[in-house]
Amino acid sequence: MSIIERYREFLPLPDGEPIVTLGEGGTPLVPLPGLSERLGVDVRVKLEGSNPTGSFKDRGMCVAVSKAMQEGAAAVVCASTGNTSASAAAYAARAGLRAAVLVPEGRIARGKLAQALVHGARVVAIDGSFDEALDIVRVLVDRHKIALVNSLNPFRLEGQKTGAFEICDELGRAPDVLCIPVGNAGNVSAYSMGFTEYHQRERAPKVPRLYGFQAAGAAPLVSGHPVERPETVATAIRIGKPARGEQALSAMNDSGGGVAAVTDAEILDAYRLLARTEGIFCEPASAASVAGLIARVGSGDISPGELVVCVLTGTGLKDPDLASAGSEGLIRLPADYDAIEDAILS
Ligand code: F0G
Repeated sequence: MSIIERYREFLPLPDGEPIVTLGEGGTPLVPLPGLSERLGVDVRVKLEGSNPTGSFKDRGMCVAVSKAMQEGAAAVVCASTGNTSASAAAYAARAGLRAAVLVPEGRIARGKLAQALVHGARVVAIDGSFDEALDIVRVLVDRHKIALVNSLNPFRLEGQKTGAFEICDELGRAPDVLCIPVGNAGNVSAYSMGFTEYHQRERAPKVPRLYGFQAAGAAPLVSGHPVERPETVATAIRIGKPARGEQALSAMNDSGGGVAAVTDAEILDAYRLLARTEGIFCEPASAASVAGLIARVGSGDISPGELVVCVLTGTGLKDPDLASAGSEGLIRLPADYDAIEDAILS
């Protein structure tokens, strides 16, 4: 069921107003038996790559673009490491609005760029970082009647909080721990809102400990200062100055969790582990949540038997270049039975 069908009463979308929806939400919560056994905790992953454009952004974009329509905006704009631009482009197309997206040239996964282009957005690749792109679009929306659909937009968070609702509804309670990748720090803030609202509404016993994970080369919330030149294989979270950093930090700390860094090597190990042993193909930024979980269990922050949900924020198909670079090569053969049998069985 989509977030509109299931949770509209908890969203700022009054009856009678137009809604722009592609059926977002209702994503699978899948147990990981292999990793659970290895770590001694009960691990589930929330497959946000199953959203219409392949990432969690759709939950927020549904609400943000519906609001932009209601407010009479002619266009939407965002800065993006890729997924926001893909989602904004799709929802704007659906709404009949123009979309413009600013992305850091050469630092966005190929699938995401293709999505923004195919949906007809005006795509501008800048010779600069995500953080610089965001500074520019903030000025643009001050000067023009264009809606900003980055997670600075509070309606994005309203939509994204439904991820937390789904987890609690499916488990029948809040998990003990939520592990989530952090870039601009909007999504962890949204989950915090969602768990808190759910807790108040349903008198659920608690809000989970929220652990956010940044890539070691792009970890401003861990180091306590902006990172001028963020660098990581997980391009989705290559962000040096998170717009919702302070809000997210208090949310994580107040929950009894916190923020930590994971190296690119740990991210890629988790990415391969998920693909090869659990049958789950997520993008590298998403695997940061599982890399972080493994490290937190190792450091004793997560105890045996606890129920942990890792949010896998986007599908692996977004980044085909990284996926094929890390895999074993193709075996090329003529259409010859013996040669093929030998290659398969050897
Ligand atoms: N995972 C993926 C796959 C993402 O695309 C992002 C953010 C995050 C995690 C982090 O979420 O920013 O709310 O802390 N992507 C943004 C974008 C920045 O432009 O697509 P966050």
